[in-house]
Amino acid sequence: MSRLVEPLAFLELDGGGPRYGQIRRALLGAIGTGALAPGARLPTTRDLARQLECARNIVLLAYEQLVLEGYLTARPRTGTFVSSDLPRAPVANGRRQSSSGKDRIPLAPSGQRLAEASSQAWAITRRSRRYSIDFMYGQCEPDTRILRHLRRGFGNVLHEPFAFEYGNPAGDATLRAEVAQRLCGTRGVARSAEQIVITNGAQQALDICARLLLRTGDQALVEDPGYEAARAVFRAAGAVITPVAVDAEGLNPAALPPRAARTRLLYVTPSHQFPTGAILTAARRHQLRLWARSRGVFIIEDDYDGELRYHERAVRALAGLEPDDHVIYCGTFAKSLFPSLRLGYLALPDALVAPAANAKWLTDRGSSGLVQRLVRNLMTTGEYDRHIRRMQRRYLARRDALVHALTEHLGQEVEIAGDASGMHLVAWFPRLGPSHLDALVAACARRDVGVYPIARHALQPLGRAGLIMGYGLVDERAIDRGVRTLAAKYRKIRPA
Ligand SMILES: Cc1ncc(COP(=O)(O)O)c(C=O)c1O
Repeated sequence: MSRLVEPLAFLELDGGGPRYGQIRRALLGAIGTGALAPGARLPTTRDLARQLECARNIVLLAYEQLVLEGYLTARPRTGTFVSSDLPRAPVANGRRQSSSGKDRIPLAPSGQRLAEASSQAWAITRRSRRYSIDFMYGQCEPDTRILRHLRRGFGNVLHEPFAFEYGNPAGDATLRAEVAQRLCGTRGVARSAEQIVITNGAQQALDICARLLLRTGDQALVEDPGYEAARAVFRAAGAVITPVAVDAEGLNPAALPPRAARTRLLYVTPSHQFPTGAILTAARRHQLRLWARSRGVFIIEDDYDGELRYHERAVRALAGLEPDDHVIYCGTFAKSLFPSLRLGYLALPDALVAPAANAKWLTDRGSSGLVQRLVRNLMTTGEYDRHIRRMQRRYLARRDALVHALTEHLGQEVEIAGDASGMHLVAWFPRLGPSHLDALVAACARRDVGVYPIARHALQPLGRAGLIMGYGLVDERAIDRGVRTLAAKYRKIRPA
């Protein structure tokens, strides 16, 4: 039977010396360039010999040599694999790659900005280690019930007409209508289905806004402390980042610059300030809108966890106060469902809808039609509403458990803030300085408990020590155990 695809079709022999040595060098080259990644399975010696038109023993010899050198691992009755822990720096075509950086490719200035801005922000948000009790914020796990619906739903979606075609880059029409209806009902945002553009998470929504609105050298105002991934997007688009101070009532309008000649946009998280958790007061919302409107500045409202609220009266979104062509609303399914879905949306003023849809087409021709259909079906069947109610109960119980544990184990030593919504709160430690806090974080890490300083989200020194504590990954029992460890370590570290 003939084979259509060669097992390692890209493998080229250099023709120098014995055949087994050529095969060894070619495989090393593929490992060096990453074409054969750590853990990748190699073809059987028989298949590779057939492809290279040589005797099987020759391939066997090359494999054995690489196993001896540690580049390959042979597992009896399973196969031969590229080693997960390669012995030394990868080798390309038998030659070690230069690490001098001379062969680095010079990037365009915009590319350089993009890469630098992203790597700084990514370093902050990256989860470098998984702890058995992890108060990591911004992460959550879906419940088993919604997973069942998603599994079944995915099967159904595959049978829908046009499921495999490109769709409207602005998004699935029914999903846009569902999002618009929900935004109106739960957040008071009166924008029509046509004003919704579906994106790959809030991140792409912010990127599209930045690309459409910012010129090089424009000022972008951001909350401080604030969301580094938004800052990075604006910086990458060429903007100058200007921090605006945040206090217990959210962004302080008194700290806004009086003149705004080159200010193009202002990024805020009014419903649950990231990371402090403050809720922007009604008076400040009003002031902010007046300030922006009178200066022609766009407000980007990131309502990243607006679905999860634990107080009686829902705070309306900033975009929901009254129709305003200067407010862009941005939402995500990362918290209400889970981050890897990569689905979010923009609710835009009319004049920005077509440019945003065009930008979306150019960037990726639209978000995954299958994923959009899946979420749309959850919404049209009412399952999404039921899921949100379940999640509100789940996270309320965890929030209460965290507040209770902090109060019980740390008492007056801790001040709790930002716990009215979302999946994180802030624990401030008035008696600790920044170096004590670092020691506390390290001591907890040694006990396999992950806690994270809020200071890493700040541009200016905060002047106080605090932890941003997420409860998306920890249940009530883990919360109590984790806070006990935190309190025990705190007592050892706290200044006398
Ligand atoms: C302030 C803020 N906005 C948005 C997001 C979510 O972004 P995305 O939808 O791109 O996952 C997060 C995630 O942690 C966040 O903290």
